[in-house]
Amino acid sequence: MIPLRFAVLASGGGSNLQALLDRIRSGDLPAEHVFTVSNNSQAKALERTRNAGALAFHISSKTEGSEEGVVSKLLELIDHHPVDLLVLAGYMKKVPPAVLHRLKNRVVNVHPALLPSFGGAGFYGERVHEAVVQSRCEFTGVTIHMVNENYDDGQIILQRKVRVPAGADAKTVGQLVLEKEHDSYWRVLKAFADGDVVSTDSDNPAEAVRINPEWLQRMSELD
Ligand code: GAR
Repeated sequence: MIPLRFAVLASGGGSNLQALLDRIRSGDLPAEHVFTVSNNSQAKALERTRNAGALAFHISSKTEGSEEGVVSKLLELIDHHPVDLLVLAGYMKKVPPAVLHRLKNRVVNVHPALLPSFGGAGFYGERVHEAVVQSRCEFTGVTIHMVNENYDDGQIILQRKVRVPAGADAKTVGQLVLEKEHDSYWRVLKAFADGDVVSTDSDNPAEAVRINPEWLQRMSELD
């Protein structure tokens, strides 16, 4: 089997990236991590990438001189290091339209809530969990979805629920959700590698990928 080649965009700690790297090492995920880009020079995701022997790049409007420069650099990287999938792992910026166009229907994101709830501009990281706690939701969860030009709006591939313990604060909820993310993202990448999720050529964002219903059924049986 030819391993799935993927690149990562990350802004922070990169625990989701680490969980993917661990699954590659354990043999669960037939994939090759090619490079990581971060807009933040201090992102631990860059260190994790170097430790795993992949390419790590800090790219921002400061390093490139402008937002246009960032877009050119990203496109150059994608051209020099072809990948099957671009994986957003705690990436706090919008993916430039030119990059989405170049990697049509091949960009995925993990969001720490059950979209469409608690999604969209302003809902990222801890803020999501604070809103969940304030809303007294019984459940929150993880959504892995395709990326389009709007925040948290693309076709949903996988959702998994997390029960919000009574009286839990945002930090606790965030931890529980993060654990579920770590057990979910690699499964979606494996589904791409195995052909259970397939990118299409469609311009309809609701049909960005075709999902094998048997795979979805198997995923629904996980806790
Ligand atoms: C994760 O919870 C991820 O879902 C969230 O940021 C965290 C990054 O953690 N992403 C967003 O909120 C994007 N809208 P990590 O850097 O340890 O993987």
